[in-house]
Formats: sequence, structure tokens, C-alpha cells
Amino acid sequence: MKTINLGNSGIDASAVALGIMRMDALSVDQATKVIDSAAALGINYVDSADIYGGGQSSTIFGAALKKASVNRDQLYIQSKGGIVPGKRYDFSKQHLIEAVNGELERLGVDYLDSFLLHRPDALMEPEEIAEAFDELQTSGKVRHFGVSNFNPLQVDMLQAALNQRLMINQLQFGIMHTGAIDFGLHTNMHDDRSINHDGEIIEYSRLHKMTIQAWSPYQYGNFAGIFLDNPKFPELNAAMQTLADEKHVTKSAIATAWILRHPAHIQVILGTMNPTHLAENAAGADIDLTRQEWYDIYFAAGNDLP
Ligand SMILES: NC(=O)c1ccc[n+]([C@@H]2O[C@H](COP(=O)([O-])OP(=O)(O)OC[C@H]3O[C@@H](n4cnc5c(N)ncnc54)[C@H](OP(=O)(O)O)[C@@H]3O)[C@@H](O)[C@H]2O)c1
Repeated sequence: MKTINLGNSGIDASAVALGIMRMDALSVDQATKVIDSAAALGINYVDSADIYGGGQSSTIFGAALKKASVNRDQLYIQSKGGIVPGKRYDFSKQHLIEAVNGELERLGVDYLDSFLLHRPDALMEPEEIAEAFDELQTSGKVRHFGVSNFNPLQVDMLQAALNQRLMINQLQFGIMHTGAIDFGLHTNMHDDRSINHDGEIIEYSRLHKMTIQAWSPYQYGNFAGIFLDNPKFPELNAAMQTLADEKHVTKSAIATAWILRHPAHIQVILGTMNPTHLAENAAGADIDLTRQEWYDIYFAAGNDLP
């Protein structure tokens, strides 16, 4: 398993991580198999959030970790907070500290390796977040911090108030979700693709050595479904299949490899709860696509270039 230097911190994190958003649907025994399968593949990084399954995903993970063959200290465990379902966002000091405390209890661990702010809160007060982060770090409850779905200026504004470096930005990114690179490729053009929706988040992250974590790597739209084997995307599936046949892997491995080929050293958060799919998807970490193969897939996804 390839590894990445997470946020330039020296943390040797697996290039693909296990996202446990869907773990609430599993029994503890099934979840134990997923954790053991991930560990056998060399996956040492886990991503959760306080809201996954209303907290149940973290609870199942915590119970399964006790039965798994891997120890807590062999894993990097990350969670996210700041979303309050039905009410929206809350980055108050009290809420963030409670969010971490809740996750520690559900996951059954003493500390989180990293804690991310899940989605930007319009009412965020950077100084108040700084107080929360200081307390979480000095109490030993959180080792590293980051954000999710933030644009560059939001990162800068928050970072200016913090005593800790923001190391991670978790963003939706995959073959069918490429807004963060499309506009850059259409710079100096007049077409719709030249519109910059989110800021230069990839360039920003590379300059500041923040790791981008790609969430929902196989989804298209906003949780519309996955593009793998989807008849809505015949050209893309055919192009992935050609490469998959050549490299003796599955299409899903090609979809993983396509993200990892980007020089930003993106970490891919895999969401499958099926050990067979997990192995197939993670195999993409051992595939190196050529520049032409990368562009061929980009075109097959329906993109054009000036
Ligand atoms: N920061 C954020 O705002 C945010 C938002 C959403 C998600 N996330 C994170 O990203 C992680 C991944 O998200 P996701 O679950 O949407 O990602 P995903 O891996 O793109 O999609 C998972 C879905 O695809 C199916 N699938 C995966 N591999 C497959 C394969 N080889 N063949 C057939 N079906 C396959 C899975 O079904 P099977 O289980 O049957 O394989 C599951 O239904 C989450 O767990 C969470 O940690 C973060």
C-alpha cells in the first residue's frame, strides 16, 4: 500500500482510507471483518463523523475495534463535527468539544488522531474555534486538526486565528466530480467550465502542504449514485474497463488510481462496507496511470479541453 505524508506532518498514512459513514448498517461481527480486511490491505487510516448513522457508525466501529486483530495504536482515527442534523452548523466552542467527547465515547478511544470541521459554518468565529482546538489539544483528546468542504479563503481566515496548523481538507473529488480542476484547465476561456466555483483549492492545498481527502470517490452528483457499472456513463465505463483489462484489476481500481495520479497526493476515502469491493478498490493504490491514460479517462467522463 502506497502511503502519503499526511499534511506534511510525518504521519505515514495509507493512500486509501476506510470511511465508515455506512458502518451503521453492519453488525459488530461484519464491521470487525471490514476492519480486519482493511488492515490486511495496509489501510491504517479511518474516517468517521459524529453524524454518521446518528452516531451509530462510530459506535459499531468502536465495538468492532475491540474484537479486531488490529490495535487502536496501529490506526489513525479521524472524526468530524460541526453539523447538527436538522439545525445545520455549530462551530461554537461548547459544541465542538461536546462533539469530540461524544466521538471518543462512541469510538471507544482516548484520543482522535485528527478532528475536522465538517462543513463551513457561516457564523464561525475563528477565535472561539481556536479556544476549542487549544483545549482539545492540551487535554490530549485531539492530535491534529483540519477542515472539510472549505474554500481557500475560509481556510486562511480560520488558520490566522489558530495555534495549530490545518493539515487536511476533505472534499468531494473523483472522476465524475472534477470542478476543482475543470476551471483551471479552462483558464482564459469564456465557456461555463472556466467558472471558478470553489477557489483554487487544489493549488492552495499543494502550496500549503495540506492533504486533500477525496470523499465519495465513485459518486456522481450529490449522492445521486455511483458511476461504476452505471448505464448512464457507457463511455466512461468502457474506458475504465479497457484499462482495467490491461492492468488486470477492476474498474473501481482504475477510478481510485485516477485520483491518486494527481500530483496533489490526494488521499482517497473508500466508503464500501464489502471486503471484496474494498480489496478491489484499494488495488488502485498500486496502479500508476500514465499522463495519457489519466486524460483519456477525463475525456471519457464527458469533459473537453480548450
Ligand atoms: N466530508 C464530507 O462532507 C463527506 C461526505 C460524504 C462522505 N464522506 C466520507 O467519504 C467516505 C466515502 O463516501 P461514500 O461511501 O459515499 O463513497 P464511495 O466509495 O464513492 O461509495 C460507496 C458506495 O459505492 C458502492 N461501491 C463501492 N465500491 C464498489 C464496487 N467496487 N463495486 C460496486 N459498488 C461499490 C458501495 O456499496 P458496497 O458497500 O456494497 O460496496 C457504496 O454503496 C464516507 O465513508 C465518509 O467517510 C465525507
